[in-house]
Amino acid sequence: MHLAFYGAGAIAERHIDAIRRTGTLDVTWLISRTVERAQALATKKGIAHWTTDEQLPLADPDVEAVVVAYPTFRHVDLAQRAFAAGKHVVCEKPMASSTDEAEQIAAGAARSGKLLLVTQIKRFWPAFAEAHAFIAGGQAGPLVRATVDFQTEWDWSNRGWRLDEAGGYLLDMHVHDVDLLLWLAGRMPKRVWASGENRADREGTVVLEFDTAYARLEWSGRISGRPYPKGARTAYQLACQRGRVEIEVGDEVITESFVDGRSLGRQSSPIGEQLRASWDGMWSAQAAALLGEGALPVRPEEGINNVRVSMAAVEALNSHAVQRL
Ligand SMILES: NC(=O)c1ccc[n+]([C@@H]2O[C@H](COP(=O)([O-])OP(=O)(O)OC[C@H]3O[C@@H](n4cnc5c(N)ncnc54)[C@H](OP(=O)(O)O)[C@@H]3O)[C@@H](O)[C@H]2O)c1
Repeated sequence: MHLAFYGAGAIAERHIDAIRRTGTLDVTWLISRTVERAQALATKKGIAHWTTDEQLPLADPDVEAVVVAYPTFRHVDLAQRAFAAGKHVVCEKPMASSTDEAEQIAAGAARSGKLLLVTQIKRFWPAFAEAHAFIAGGQAGPLVRATVDFQTEWDWSNRGWRLDEAGGYLLDMHVHDVDLLLWLAGRMPKRVWASGENRADREGTVVLEFDTAYARLEWSGRISGRPYPKGARTAYQLACQRGRVEIEVGDEVITESFVDGRSLGRQSSPIGEQLRASWDGMWSAQAAALLGEGALPVRPEEGINNVRVSMAAVEALNSHAVQRL
C-alpha cells in the first residue's frame, strides 16, 4: 500500500523506517512546508516524490493512506482533506489541538468510511504492553493507583510551534502518559485536577480520579543540560489490589511485577530496544488494520479522550479548579 507522508520533522524518519520494515507499506510521497526539507528527506530515504503542495499527493490514485505528522494544529485540516480525497489517515499524537478538532477528525472518518488511526506509541513499548497484559489478566486484582514520575532535563526553549499551542507541553508530551493511564485503567476519569506549571522546565502534577482508582502524573525539569532522553528518567508504579508493576525508564528500561508480595521477576533492556520494538509493533498493527487484516490498534474515541483529558488537565492548571468529565 502506498502512503503519502506529511512531515519531515523530528519524528518523520522513525515513522518512515518502521513503515518500510512492515514489508507491506511504502512511502511514495514526502510533503514538507519547505522544498529543501522535503527534498532532503525524500532523497535520503529514496522516496519517489516530494512536494510542498499539500493537495498533489491527495490527487494520486495510487496513494491509499496518508500519515499526518505536521504540527498538531494542522492535523484537523489535513485529515479532513485526506478523507475528502478518499484516503485513510494515520494521525500523529496528540490527535488534535482541542477536543472539538479531534471530534471533527473522527466525524470526517465516519462520513468518508475511511480508517482513522492515531499513533499512541507508548502502548507498543514491550514494557507497557506487558504491564497492560498483567493488569488485564487480573492476577493481582484491579488497578487501584497508578503513578508516573517524569523527570526530564529536556530543553524546550527551542520547540517552535509547540510553545504556542493551547495545550502546550502538557498536551504535546504528556498525552503519551495520559493515553497509557486511560488504557491501563480501561475507562475515563470522573474528575481531573492539576497544579504547577505547564512547562518542561518546571514542576506539575495532574491527578485523574476514576470511580475506584486514581492516577497521578508528575513532571519536574529544573535540571538543565543534557537533551532528552539522555538523563531523563521516568518511574511508573501501577498498583493493583494484590500486586503491582514497577517500570523505570532511563537508558535501561527495568520492569518488575509483584503478586502477594512476591516478585515475579525483574527484567531489563536498553531503551533503544524498547523504542525499536515499539515502532515496529505499532506499524505492524497499523499495517494490518490498513490492509483490512486486523482491528484498529487505537480507536478514534481513545484519541479523542486523550485530548479531552489532557486539555481538562491544562484547564485545571490554568483555572486552579477541578474539572469534571
Ligand atoms: N510519537 C512521538 O513520539 C512524537 C514525537 C515527536 C512529535 N510527534 C508529533 O508529530 C507531529 C509533528 O511533530 P515534529 O516534532 O515532527 O514537528 P517538526 O519537527 O516541527 O516538523 C514539522 C513538519 O511540519 C511542516 N510544517 C508545515 N506547516 C508548518 C507550520 N506552520 N509550522 C511548522 N512546521 C510546519 C514542517 O515543514 P518545514 O520543516 O519544511 O517547515 C515539518 O515538515 C506533531 O503532532 C507532534 O506532536 C510525535
